[in-house]
Amino acid sequence: MSGHSPPFTDLNHVLTTTRSVRLRLDYDRPVPLGVVGECLQLALQAPTGGAAEDWRWVVVSDPALKGELARLYHAAYVEYVHKPLHSAAGAESRIVKGRLGGVDEHGAVSARTARILSGAEHLAGNIGRAPYLVIPCATRPNPAKGGPGTNSAVYGSLYPAIWQFNLALRARGLGTVITTLHLHHAAAAAELLGIPDHALQITMLPIAYTQGTDFRVAPRRPVNSVTYLDRWGAPFPYDDKPVDRLTGEDFA
Ligand SMILES: Cc1cc2nc3c(=O)[nH]c(=O)nc-3n(C[C@H](O)[C@H](O)[C@H](O)COP(=O)(O)O)c2cc1C
Repeated sequence: MSGHSPPFTDLNHVLTTTRSVRLRLDYDRPVPLGVVGECLQLALQAPTGGAAEDWRWVVVSDPALKGELARLYHAAYVEYVHKPLHSAAGAESRIVKGRLGGVDEHGAVSARTARILSGAEHLAGNIGRAPYLVIPCATRPNPAKGGPGTNSAVYGSLYPAIWQFNLALRARGLGTVITTLHLHHAAAAAELLGIPDHALQITMLPIAYTQGTDFRVAPRRPVNSVTYLDRWGAPFPYDDKPVDRLTGEDFA
């Protein structure tokens, strides 16, 4: 994309083409801080449990701080992704087998999975080059002290806004990917950024313009294969349609 294009306004397009961007983050193109602010303003329209707005967003721009966060991310990537993958049981590992299309019909790592994993490797080596690293935090009381819904409310008060942030970025020609690997070293990241004990880091998002804006609809399991009507296991009568037919008009 050249220059500053206006946002996409076709909601279905944004909803179906907002991808986890790893290989196509443009690390060399500066991002005005105001764009991040605008996307956060849109993101913060999302709901929070009890309308408490107990979120805090740390936008990291300082190259030295980003470098240190990247080091933490890379260390976790090596330990929890790279090493298991390159061990003798790599193709058998949860990282490969757990994903849709993780292995093909011959038991080999599928092309899609290989692409995701090479993207993950690339991101791990470059994440610190993103113009910003954004760490959303939850400032809810410690979930361990709450009732059964508390954990859901802690993470659930952040993820709607995190996703809305992803969509707002996408609509402006930027991209990101939700990452959690650095949380293996959350204490070190907290010390680095002065994040207090009562703030729980939820993810780390690298923010950059994307190289091109032509992202595709992702392959996903069909609705009726993951949805039940009334009772667990009972069929949900819906067949996925082509994306351009998702207009609501069939039911008008
Ligand atoms: C909670 C959560 C944690 C994730 N953590 C990471 C991560 O640490 N590193 C990474 O490269 N991708 C991470 N991802 C991205 C997923 O791997 C991604 O959703 C998947 O590749 C599908 O991408 P797509 O939506 O573009 O098809 C995470 C996604 C979610 C929702």
